[in-house]
Amino acid sequence: MNAKHGQTTLSRKTAYSYAQIALGTLNNLKSPERESSTGLPSLIIRDAHIWTKNATTRGSILVERGRIQKIARRIIERADEEILARRLLVLPGLIDGHVHLRDMKLSYKEDFTTGTTAAAAGGFTSVIDMPNSLPPTDSAERLVERTKRASGKILVNVGFHAAALDDYDKVRAMKAAGAFSMKLYLPSPIAPLDVNDDKVVVRVLSAAKRTPLLLTVHAEDRTKLPRTREIETFAELVRLRRGNAETSAVRRILRLQRRIGCRVHFCHVSLRSTLSAISSRPSSCLSSEVTPHHTLLSEDHVRRLGWKAWMVPPLRSPKDTRQLFRAMKMGIPTIMATDHAPHTIKEKARPPRKSSPGIPGLETALPLMLTMVNKGRLSLGRLVSLLSTNPAKLFDLRSKGILENGADGDLVLVDLKKRGRIDPEKFFSKAHYSPFEGWKTEGAVHTTVVNGLIVYREGEILGKPGDGKVLKSGGHG
Ligand code: NCD
Ligand code: ZN
Repeated sequence: MNAKHGQTTLSRKTAYSYAQIALGTLNNLKSPERESSTGLPSLIIRDAHIWTKNATTRGSILVERGRIQKIARRIIERADEEILARRLLVLPGLIDGHVHLRDMKLSYKEDFTTGTTAAAAGGFTSVIDMPNSLPPTDSAERLVERTKRASGKILVNVGFHAAALDDYDKVRAMKAAGAFSMKLYLPSPIAPLDVNDDKVVVRVLSAAKRTPLLLTVHAEDRTKLPRTREIETFAELVRLRRGNAETSAVRRILRLQRRIGCRVHFCHVSLRSTLSAISSRPSSCLSSEVTPHHTLLSEDHVRRLGWKAWMVPPLRSPKDTRQLFRAMKMGIPTIMATDHAPHTIKEKARPPRKSSPGIPGLETALPLMLTMVNKGRLSLGRLVSLLSTNPAKLFDLRSKGILENGADGDLVLVDLKKRGRIDPEKFFSKAHYSPFEGWKTEGAVHTTVVNGLIVYREGEILGKPGDGKVLKSGGHG
């Protein structure tokens, strides 16, 4: 990792001019230890465009002791670190509710440090990790172990989902250990459960209701997935893994949820019809998620790119993609998540049946969506709600997802006009491939601030492992 652990720091008493603190020149200053005896350094972002609630205003932000202390037109105080941000837009730090950080026995694919470095570079200040790790996060003990391993290794804040179980006491223990949800992975459950049996699923839903704990669902019905037979191309594999596996799984979970009444979140929904089925039920207990890949790519890309565009649920027809994008633009899904799912190229570049599904997504999501904003295809407000405000509400991260006094110092500064090209070679993730390779982008992450600390700036990692905190559900961010 080409991370730089030094951090540009200016002492409050240091005399310096605006020229010195102007963007770019900070890099040339000496880099003493960042943490002074007084604790966390203070930070002022000056003269920026700031996204506050529903619009941008011009002003400055003071972050002290890890929290936003002031947002004002002018701030006369000085801070340890200052950023003159005239051309930049400040958004609340992005929150990704669906990432696979791997680590432990899967560290060869990704580890806590590389995954959260990728998050920092992508403008994500908090991410929530999925439980299909090795060992899987399928008990309170395993969750505690994973939490311990993560702390000290992460550059952004990290929370954890746990595996779905049908035993109430165990579910309650996982919640007490800080789990943000339990994940029901219908294609092949993480903990051994006969998920085809409604009685088993009802027990899972009842445990979620009683605890209470959010249930996240990978909704693909395994009985509707293609049987083992030779499949020659990825295009064929994708066509055979049909949308009806998703439609039928969503319908089934909705039917059971209506009986039990627990909170259910549907992960990576790939079809407009499924989104509509979820959102047409007027229940505050239901939520849904879309990904950048399902809203921007289709089977056409699978035909051209093969394994680079292989993930589950698979990409759909160009018409489905257009419809999903339109639904997202209208705000029908609750959140957007990347489903960052890194594998090695060796594991992916195999015959279709043997190839691991999943693509890295943390470093491409924001530039791709900012490009949509610049093209007039998505409003900035929708982008912020899908990627920050709504995930903060869904996962009850109360002092995140908003820029206001007292909120956590989690921010992303974006340069809306900066043009770039998606280059997987430059990813901080261990997974150096992407179906978006070569895409031209307009809009880039300039600086990422986590807990008041600058962790990323203009292609450089300035944070260090330990700058991120472990998040626990009910810990209120
Ligand atoms: C995910 C993975 O690799 O862990 N893969 C994927 O294609 N989405 C698993 C998952 O989220 O279903
Ligand atoms: Zn999934």
